[in-house]
Amino acid sequence: MKAIQMAEFGGPEVLKLVDIVEPEPEKNEVRVKIYYAGVNPAEAYIRAGGYAFFTPEFPYVPGFDGAGVVDAVGEGVTRLQVGDRVFISSILANRKTGTYAEKVVCDVEAVHKLPDSISFKQGAALGVPVTAAYRSLFHRGRLKPGETVLIHGASGGVGTLAVQLAKYAGARVIGTVGTEEGYELVRKAGADEIFYHNEEHYIEKIQSLNDAGVDLVLEMLANVNLEKDLQLVNKYGRVVVVGNRGSLDFNPRLTMAKEADVMGMAVWNAPIDQYNESLIAVEAALSNGGLHPFVGKVLPLEEAAEAQKVILEGNAKGKLVLEIVKE
Ligand SMILES: NC(=O)c1ccc[n+]([C@@H]2O[C@H](COP(=O)([O-])OP(=O)(O)OC[C@H]3O[C@@H](n4cnc5c(N)ncnc54)[C@H](OP(=O)(O)O)[C@@H]3O)[C@@H](O)[C@H]2O)c1
Repeated sequence: MKAIQMAEFGGPEVLKLVDIVEPEPEKNEVRVKIYYAGVNPAEAYIRAGGYAFFTPEFPYVPGFDGAGVVDAVGEGVTRLQVGDRVFISSILANRKTGTYAEKVVCDVEAVHKLPDSISFKQGAALGVPVTAAYRSLFHRGRLKPGETVLIHGASGGVGTLAVQLAKYAGARVIGTVGTEEGYELVRKAGADEIFYHNEEHYIEKIQSLNDAGVDLVLEMLANVNLEKDLQLVNKYGRVVVVGNRGSLDFNPRLTMAKEADVMGMAVWNAPIDQYNESLIAVEAALSNGGLHPFVGKVLPLEEAAEAQKVILEGNAKGKLVLEIVKE
């Protein structure tokens, strides 16, 4: 089968299109014929080497996320059958290959049904982003119905799903964006208020909303925004750091003044029962109409290197996916 493989760390050029042997599912594993694979910033960090959470053995086929059709099941698998439409979220699963390939074999717990109303392209946009959004909102952020959450960076893969999951759970949602396209996505996702994070005085604008303030912040760029988040949260507020690309000069007194909690979140650290719980909740939200992933750019599998360049450039306009079989 065709797959993207790397045999060393380095720039995007280390990602090569190769032919490899099709993997076979063993006990409690399924094999999925992949139509689309999701591309995440984490895969570019892993490719460059020195990523804190995961070091692959070579040769390595990247990719944790995708969507397609089950084409073989191992012994003991009863929840899924050959022919089921599914999405894959395999960051914490045992995998024989990654999802930048025609087929993947992984633990059945990492594979969930995709309703007919959600396309394979959309299914590929779930995986890492949706488990990050769910874990940040509910397991780390302890979001409750009626609370206000600020998604600081709402237009990306994680943000657009976080907006929808928070609305579905009965929260009030404020989102920030950097572009008009991002604004439109976040509006479609259902945010109640939207601000531009590259506009001067946007923090004052959020503060001047005549309401109960912000209970929880999901932060996509903590090195730029952490101080602003501490200005915005209410007393006893919570800030969950989802994304960060550098360090900052930060006054810890800001946390004392409000007894605010600043928490890190990394999907890699999720206890497996919480991770599996998040996927069951996502499957339910998809089938009940609570989640509609937004797909932006689609590139063919052989352009995986270009896809990893694009994902780090920012200006998110919906999720970037690799096409393996046209829908
Ligand atoms: N901790 C984890 O387990 C985990 C899991 C998944 C992702 N992440 C990280 O979370 C971040 C977001 O991931 P993603 O997949 O959503 O990436 P993405 O699709 O590339 O989106 C990036 C987001 O960051 C926003 N952004 C850019 N400048 C910003 C600013 N000054 N303030 C606030 N937001 C800003 C972008 O908004 P505009 O483009 O509209 O400006 C966009 O919404 C990345 O750093 C990623 O590595 C962490």
